[in-house]
Amino acid sequence: MKIFLDTANLRDIEEAASWGVLSGVTTNPSLMAREEGADFEVTIRRITELVDGPISAETVSEDADGMVREGLEYAQWHPNVIVKVPSTTEGLKAVHRLKKEGIRCNVTLCFNANQALLAARAGAFIISPFVGRLDDISEPGMDVIADIVEVFANDPEIETLVLAASIRHPRHIIEAAHAGADIATVPFKVLEQSMKHPLTDKGIASFLADWRQREAQIEPIASTGSD
Ligand code: E4P
Repeated sequence: MKIFLDTANLRDIEEAASWGVLSGVTTNPSLMAREEGADFEVTIRRITELVDGPISAETVSEDADGMVREGLEYAQWHPNVIVKVPSTTEGLKAVHRLKKEGIRCNVTLCFNANQALLAARAGAFIISPFVGRLDDISEPGMDVIADIVEVFANDPEIETLVLAASIRHPRHIIEAAHAGADIATVPFKVLEQSMKHPLTDKGIASFLADWRQREAQIEPIASTGSD
């Protein structure tokens, strides 16, 4: 399963990219709004320089004509730009039309397998079921990922990638991998948490303490030897 970063923050993207773990980035209008004063096009272009993989840029129109217009513009910024459209019938129309232009779409705000199947049929490159937001309303989000993975596996014509979105904690990442998701898009904080373990920190501290003690023992022997 590939890991994408779910943010529009360039510092975080640069840092996570330096770890060598990123295969792409997803943004949305709310994530962009957090980056005060940042220009959308400049931000997306910069992300394409930092990460060599699909970079999702979301449309804000509510009708297919508007989504297609925005999508055609975003696609000119870089070949890795993926046009994000919502799981609506207007979104499906936009996916269908953009695909004919050779433009790849990520269908977002997906909450069940029906939406995913129709998005795939319309020609979506990626489908993004939102795990955390389903969990928030007491519906098991990860079951929807497993459901979609199974539906897609039963249809050899479907090539759409399943991207687990709205990831809230490190366990979600592993559950998405177990459920068969192709990608998980992860907030930077959750990615950092994923590498933390108290026994790792404790182990480093004890290795370093033992090493320093060893050095302290060697030094007096070395100085005695030179006398
Ligand atoms: C995915 O592409 C979305 O940007 C994202 O995962 C939404 O997550 P949220 O529910 O934490 O806002």
